[in-house]
Amino acid sequence: MPVITNIQDLKRIYERRVPRMFFDYAESGSWTEQTFRENTSDFEKIRLRQRVAVDMSGRTTSGKMIGEDVAMPVALAPVGLTGMQHADGEIKAAKAAEDFGVPFTLSTMSINSIEDVAEATTKPFWFQLYTMNDEDYVRRLIQRAKDAKCSALVITLDLQILGQRHKDLKNGLSAPPKLTPKTIANLMTKWAWGIEMLGAKRREFGNIVGHVEGISDASSLGAWTSEQFDLSLDWGKIAKLKEMWGGKVILKGILDAEDAKMAVKVGADAIVVSNHGGRQLDGALSSIRMLPQIMDAVGGEVEVILDSGIRSGQDVLKSLALGASGTMIGRAFVYGLGAMGQKGVTTALEVIHKELDTTMALCGERKVSDLGRHNLLIPQNFEGEWQD
Ligand code: GLV
Repeated sequence: MPVITNIQDLKRIYERRVPRMFFDYAESGSWTEQTFRENTSDFEKIRLRQRVAVDMSGRTTSGKMIGEDVAMPVALAPVGLTGMQHADGEIKAAKAAEDFGVPFTLSTMSINSIEDVAEATTKPFWFQLYTMNDEDYVRRLIQRAKDAKCSALVITLDLQILGQRHKDLKNGLSAPPKLTPKTIANLMTKWAWGIEMLGAKRREFGNIVGHVEGISDASSLGAWTSEQFDLSLDWGKIAKLKEMWGGKVILKGILDAEDAKMAVKVGADAIVVSNHGGRQLDGALSSIRMLPQIMDAVGGEVEVILDSGIRSGQDVLKSLALGASGTMIGRAFVYGLGAMGQKGVTTALEVIHKELDTTMALCGERKVSDLGRHNLLIPQNFEGEWQD
């Protein structure tokens, strides 16, 4: 077994192990993938201030996200089709998150259902909701999340329609994969994945199949989103969903200061600054680049979580130092899951934790809550100058 020292090591194993269709699904941005690329490359532009002769004993990365204790402020983001990256993927990722002490978010478009994850875990997880035309189904979904004792509803706002990802269309992405000559040829090289998948609890969208009728192709993310997602979602509807849920609400997919202010107005407990990992509006700026102006607009009024582009503990530190109180990782945990199942997710969390802890120490800090702009060197034109 190779020695794993960083997230890229997990990605290399993941790429070898998982069918191309699902690797490509995770590893794509929309259209030219400019936003997808810049989500990570913009982190590199921010540099760190080294400080010395500071007592580094008694350091801790622990903190709180929406009032919940966390071992480090890094939640697992909702990722569709996680159970296709590894058999029982959502259950395994949720267990790894629970053992590590960070929140797990289950996607509406997951393979394991809300009930599967609730049954396999002991601590509450977060449930991510896509709003759909079938209001009755949305109501039932929210009730199922309540019954499962989910501690937050994460409402995704940036995917009423799907940004085009060329590879998914060319690969005929579906769950389970359709057996075309191309997929069969690829699956024949992924024996370990296939054997484990034969024993999986589910191979279809577990929150949907058996719970809703009238979709032309229940295995296709594209068909499901274009037929079912609610194009008319607006702030009024968000307020109603919040009322229906009655618990903590996190609004995910905010990339603009005006939208952040609206999120505060509807009473969000937290917002997730995110461009959906560069998978939706290609050409949008990276999340880390948009963070400072969003902090200026709503910083003291709502908890701000940064998502999109985080592949290391240093990226986590930079997000926190720019004012976020927490972060989310998507691909970084999926690489681990695809590479080695539950153990791989734990490894991804350990890698990020170690990077965060060591970087914090070398920056002369002992607590994540003490991180701030004083730890960073930010290029003068980082946010960019754009015409009104
Ligand atoms: C769904 O959330 C996707 O980005 O594919």
